Amino acid sequence: MSVLGVAMSLLDGKALSKKILASLALQVENFKNQYGRVPGLTVILVGEDPASAVYVRSKHKSCEKIGMKSEVLRFSDQITEDQLIEKIASLNQDAKVDGILVQLPLPEHIDTESVLAQVRYEKDVDGFHPFNSGRLLRGQDAMVPCTPLGVMELLAAHQIAVDGKDAVVIGKSNIVGKPMAALLMNAGATVSVCHSKTKDLATYCRHADLIVSAAGRPNLLTEDMVKDGAVVIDVGINRLDSGILVGDVQFDEVSKKCSWITPVPGGVGPMTIAMLLKNTLKAAQQFESLPKP
Ligand code: GUN
Repeated sequence: MSVLGVAMSLLDGKALSKKILASLALQVENFKNQYGRVPGLTVILVGEDPASAVYVRSKHKSCEKIGMKSEVLRFSDQITEDQLIEKIASLNQDAKVDGILVQLPLPEHIDTESVLAQVRYEKDVDGFHPFNSGRLLRGQDAMVPCTPLGVMELLAAHQIAVDGKDAVVIGKSNIVGKPMAALLMNAGATVSVCHSKTKDLATYCRHADLIVSAAGRPNLLTEDMVKDGAVVIDVGINRLDSGILVGDVQFDEVSKKCSWITPVPGGVGPMTIAMLLKNTLKAAQQFESLPKP
């Protein structure tokens, strides 16, 4: 219970994502009946990064669970940028592939931006292509990066209003921070984007109605930095030396002051995968709605 007497509630991403996956499974079935095929996602995994391998396996399993086609293409970290781009070009032309996801990070000798820009923007289910980033920033329909999209869905599902709120996003990555700020701005929030060079993070946070932390630093957000009744979304996934998975937020203390808070794990993480599948279905539906030659 907060000082204001506001009972804290959990934003349960695991429960919501289950509901979304069940709804997507039905939509995939309808798609199959209508078009005689199922939507297909192809994931490109380069190298042996253990965290990436875990994420990719989880994406693959979720696809299978809802009846979507999922293919994982694994490449050695010796693959050249040209070889990778050639592979993407062939997937761009493949009508059975609706979504293409290049798992990040890529090895250092590969220019990530050049590779991401090669993915056909209609198949860019990660929303990382500059065309989609531009459209998102302009408030137009776009493929939206999955993690920030999942955060917006969590808020909407719990009727948490964003319009007119003061929001702080911690982190300015292309994957989370920047698209998160754009989505919140588009939804009517006043958004401050803080990052590792921000002089006084606590001052920004103390004024915020909504805080989204995507810094990747355990215990970054402490009780003294959070206003009573604030909504706190923890996008951080940090593995401690003990093996325990924690977010950026000191959950036990901060949760006493919040109106809503996401747990880690079980908050934003499961929503990210649900949004990837949602984007893949959207790409497939948009492809099928194009005039056929
Ligand atoms: N690596 C960490 N998060 C992501 C993500 O959302 N998409 C991709 N492609 N790679 C990632």
